[in-house]
Amino acid sequence: MSSENIGKHAIPAGQENAHIKAADYDRLYAESVSDPEAFWGREGKRLDWIKPFTKVKNTDFTFGNVSIKWFEDGVLNVSVNCIDRHLPARADQTAIIWEPDDPKKPAQHITYAQLSENVNRMANVLRDLGVRKGDRVVIYLPMIPEAAYAMLACARIGAVHSIVFAGFSPDALANRINDSGARILITADTAPRGGRSTALKSNADQALLNCSDKVKCLVVKHTGEQTTWVDGRDIDLKALMADAGTECEPEPMGAEDLLFILYTSGSTGKPKGVVHTTGGYLVYAAMTHEYVFDYHDGDVYWCTADVGWVTGHSYIVYGPLANGATTLMFEGVPTWPDAGRFWEVCAKHKVNQFYTAPTAIRALMGKGPEFVEKHDLSSLRILGTVGEPINPEAWNWYDEHVGKGKCPIVDTWWQTETGGHMITPLPGATETKPGSATVPFFGVKPEILEPESARPVTGNPAEGVLCIADSWPGQMRTVWGDHERFMETYFQQYPGYYFTGDGCRRDEDGYYWITGRVDDVINVSGHRMGTAEVESALVAHEKVAEAAVVGYPHPVKGQGIYAYVTLMNGVEPTEELRAELEKWVRGEIGPIAKPDLIQWAPGMPKTRSGKIMRRILRKIAENDYGSLGDISTLAEPEVVDDLIENRMNRG
Ligand code: WT7
Repeated sequence: MSSENIGKHAIPAGQENAHIKAADYDRLYAESVSDPEAFWGREGKRLDWIKPFTKVKNTDFTFGNVSIKWFEDGVLNVSVNCIDRHLPARADQTAIIWEPDDPKKPAQHITYAQLSENVNRMANVLRDLGVRKGDRVVIYLPMIPEAAYAMLACARIGAVHSIVFAGFSPDALANRINDSGARILITADTAPRGGRSTALKSNADQALLNCSDKVKCLVVKHTGEQTTWVDGRDIDLKALMADAGTECEPEPMGAEDLLFILYTSGSTGKPKGVVHTTGGYLVYAAMTHEYVFDYHDGDVYWCTADVGWVTGHSYIVYGPLANGATTLMFEGVPTWPDAGRFWEVCAKHKVNQFYTAPTAIRALMGKGPEFVEKHDLSSLRILGTVGEPINPEAWNWYDEHVGKGKCPIVDTWWQTETGGHMITPLPGATETKPGSATVPFFGVKPEILEPESARPVTGNPAEGVLCIADSWPGQMRTVWGDHERFMETYFQQYPGYYFTGDGCRRDEDGYYWITGRVDDVINVSGHRMGTAEVESALVAHEKVAEAAVVGYPHPVKGQGIYAYVTLMNGVEPTEELRAELEKWVRGEIGPIAKPDLIQWAPGMPKTRSGKIMRRILRKIAENDYGSLGDISTLAEPEVVDDLIENRMNRG
């Protein structure tokens, strides 16, 4: 049975109070795409503006001329919108519930008043260190409240934050500090996760060896574990906060002033700094958070992502706090102390909306439903997924065991570049189909194009590459320091459109099914990884002559990393060397980039002009070597037999 024939799931009972119902969706969607000025002009008012905008949309997708501006003459401050404006009514409401790694340690309930105090103190510390509007601050923190304080403190004084996921290596951190030109790094001593400790400060020390000596290192003493200390460079952040004032004048920011840079992998070896700005981003994050999770006052909302990814930016911090929500922040992992931890936390804090990744669902599904059934999940109302296509088996397990058939599931398709949800069901409005992200959010005009001709495929069903025909407020504005690269990556291949990099199918009902990346980006456990990045890490090893990396289907991670490695002349392929290369890549990029399978490749399948034919490598990695297609154009067709014979994935 093809997936579009899978029956629709009706909207579960109990969604009568949903913000958006089916008829609202149809009416509002129609307006949002036919009259974006009116629609977004109204939505823009969900924020508090220091100076209201008079212009709504000013965008141009023409290659060579790409320019994206929303609410451009408005002036506002993000931290005021996420904190100050809630204080009159919500000073004592919990803004952030912090659940520590160790379940025996107490959770923290941080009220809006306490959030305000901490953010203002940290903002004053940064300002006292000379940080000004437009300066970059790199944040390398675990999932602790200080990560949210740091983001909002930057926003308060107009500094541009760039968070580096705490799982990235010292080299990756150094590259991001250098590319962004940051003079401040905020980190912590050590980070407990799943009962183990990551030496963040020591990673930061290593990274800073390769950065300007002007960079100051602000250290959150989180665990109190001993670390090295460089006098004059390292600063005890909590100590300075204790002495700082609790009021810090917010910086008035133009709607198009930068809010943050977030590095993400592309099809070249060098991650690009995705730039998001102030007004449009916050309108979009807040609005999607409210409608897609049907967030109502008093709900407890939990997104399990890390603030090091865009999901954490938009749906742990900015969207929820702009809405005056209670947002849960979890330091730990789903499988420690056991595979019931997520559900234990849901029961403990009476979570209403729960948002996670398909890879986590698959991992927990493998441990058996008894870990779910032990816990009282009656508070759950809405479930969400993000990061990769969800297979119907995982969707059904989530629906049955976690949602008990009563919770709408929102499968949200979006990207670091889009700032917020783009194709997604709305809980009270959209019937769902397991595995489909369903229909576009307000203001989003998806278009399926023929990959070769770049012509839109009209009618249903349709299949091709997914593009977006017009701008939306959450869209990235540029690549940090490289507007050319921005235009070339997203606007050149399909003129007039934003190109997502994803393949897509639209079924008879007009529902969208994301089929995965069509570029050299792979999706490992919902984390995006450029194959070229892993390749350059591998070839940086002295024993490696050449490397080619592709994705292959992995039962839990979605895609695994499959590396073909050609060794230098005379080097013996041994198990020790395999382990050494795995460790090497972890060191160069981070644990998430570690190849799952390494195949020794005495030769690569190359065209006569020397280009590696990745199509063939992908097929062999997928264990689908029966359909390699035409290999007659290869310089040495016989290398293919060797690769097939020694393939590593026989599943
Ligand atoms: C890529 C973006 C958006 C936050 C997490 C990842 C894939 C994302 C879905 C989904 C199918 C999905 C796409 C996309 N993706 N969500 N619901 N269904 N695929 O952000 O690291 O920028 O990765 O993740 O391939 O292009 P990201």
